[in-house]
Amino acid sequence: MTLSMIVAIDQNNGIGKGDDQLAYISADLKRFKALTTGYTILMGRKTFEALPKGALPKRRNVVITRQAGYEAPGADVVHSLDEALAICEGDEKVFVIGGGEIYKTFLTQTQELYLTVIEHSFEEATVFFPELNRNEWLLEQQEGPFTDEKTQLRYMYQNLRRK
Ligand SMILES: NC(=O)c1ccc[n+]([C@@H]2O[C@H](COP(=O)([O-])OP(=O)(O)OC[C@H]3O[C@@H](n4cnc5c(N)ncnc54)[C@H](OP(=O)(O)O)[C@@H]3O)[C@@H](O)[C@H]2O)c1
Repeated sequence: MTLSMIVAIDQNNGIGKGDDQLAYISADLKRFKALTTGYTILMGRKTFEALPKGALPKRRNVVITRQAGYEAPGADVVHSLDEALAICEGDEKVFVIGGGEIYKTFLTQTQELYLTVIEHSFEEATVFFPELNRNEWLLEQQEGPFTDEKTQLRYMYQNLRRK
């Protein structure tokens, strides 16, 4: 099983404000769908509850919560990092899709990062991706920068692999 993370970060590692995303870049959302479809996605309870239509189709959804008896329609529910890793053991690839708490918890176990780096500082950011030690990671692929027509945000994709 390969554990990967997929995340959109700003110049300060900002990833969200409250329960909401910082930006919606249409091409990035399409890329997220293309990369994760057919695989397993693992997310915190707050990120799950923020999905507008619930569990994402054509993917195994796994939600992590400390609440006993929590029900997440269309998703498997786990209560710890160890339980999450155990039930995903036989899966080819697991994408950790957030949010902040879950990225922090799973980073040391993660082998691949799919970053969307947005060239902007969102003053309103309240949730952050953990600080990365770039010496631990190999930049395997970089695409962009691109400019999102709707928001005029510049962004690039960086795929990193743990050395
Ligand atoms: N930019 C991006 O790519 C991206 C992607 C995803 C999310 N986000 C942003 O991230 C923010 C949400 O992140 P967040 O940190 O507030 O919440 P989160 O990580 O989505 O969920 C946190 C919840 O996960 C559960 N949890 C955390 N650690 C656990 C552990 N070790 N064992 C069991 N359960 C555990 C707890 O649920 P219970 O309270 O139920 O116990 C906790 O309240 C939003 O702003 C969202 O927009 C950004």
